[in-house]
Amino acid sequence: MKGRIAVLGGDGIGPEVIAEGVRVLAAVALRFGHIFEMEALPFGGVGIDAFGDGLPENTLKGCLAADGVLLGAIGGPQWGPDAPVRPEPALLRLRAELGVYANLRPIAVQPALRDASPIKPEYLDGVDLLFVRELTGGIYFGRKGRDGDRAVDECAYSVREIERITRVAGKLAASRRGKITQVDKSNVLETSRLWRTVSERVIRAEFPGVTIEHMFVDAAAMHLIRRPRDFDVILTENLFGDILTDEGAMLAGSLGVLPSAALGDGRRGLYEPIHGSAPDIAGRGIANPCGTILSAALLLRHSLGLESEARAIEAAVATALSRGARTADIAASGAATLSTRQMGDAVLAALA
Ligand code: IPM
Ligand code: MG
Repeated sequence: MKGRIAVLGGDGIGPEVIAEGVRVLAAVALRFGHIFEMEALPFGGVGIDAFGDGLPENTLKGCLAADGVLLGAIGGPQWGPDAPVRPEPALLRLRAELGVYANLRPIAVQPALRDASPIKPEYLDGVDLLFVRELTGGIYFGRKGRDGDRAVDECAYSVREIERITRVAGKLAASRRGKITQVDKSNVLETSRLWRTVSERVIRAEFPGVTIEHMFVDAAAMHLIRRPRDFDVILTENLFGDILTDEGAMLAGSLGVLPSAALGDGRRGLYEPIHGSAPDIAGRGIANPCGTILSAALLLRHSLGLESEARAIEAAVATALSRGARTADIAASGAATLSTRQMGDAVLAALA
């Protein structure tokens, strides 16, 4: 088949990990007889520096015309909180323009990485959970501003926004262990009370095989570490999902190994590792490309319908790790570590 993939390296370690994702995609195309047209486009801080805009018009056009978008990471100290133009709003705009309201962040513990996690290994066996984070609403997109010495960020959700993301969670839960934990702060927030009522109604009415429980976000932050095995699908709003997925990543050992998919109503999706641009290690060629490579697998699965190809990539990453391939973030202290490129090589070798 022929697939069109927009490739946004972005900033910091973004281009380094993306290069390995692209190499793996090219290898899959060759092995399975596909043509992936990959177009590299400027995005984030590099877009600001070159065009004064984190999401240049041509980049947006390329993304809208693609089947899937593979993104590295954005941001850096040179475009900090006080910079006149910052990269983060460009990412929010891209998510909104693509209409990708459902952010899937699967967290599975790779058996080979049990010891890489700061959590005791006995808590990790059997952990297999999926965050479904709402991605185009809530406090990220509400009215913001300054009023004298006060600042405001408004958080709003509509019934429709909660219904559609709940349906995504319902479908996914039905194909997994059939359990949703909806996370909110409904003892304090009105939007959370709406989330609770609407998600409960949708699941009861439309997903008979799925159960839904509700949990306060503070308690969820604790239980995620105390009994991570008990979670199947965690459904939550934009901000809570952002925070809890970084926490959840520690179960897997490193932010560096986790992929994500952002989907809307059609097939087109935006795929990115959940880590950031890591300016502290950028340019050194030591970042872990696994999160990006696994994001490429999600792109093949969700946007191109290439399930066997996606599984081949996932198996190759697992094999490379079980053979002992380790970048610095997941290596035992004192152990030999691979560069970003060498880790890509290890995955390619396992794929072949
Ligand atoms: C993420 C990131 C982004 C977010 C930032 C870079 C805007 O932290 O994808 O989790 O908060 O959504
Ligand atoms: Mg985040």
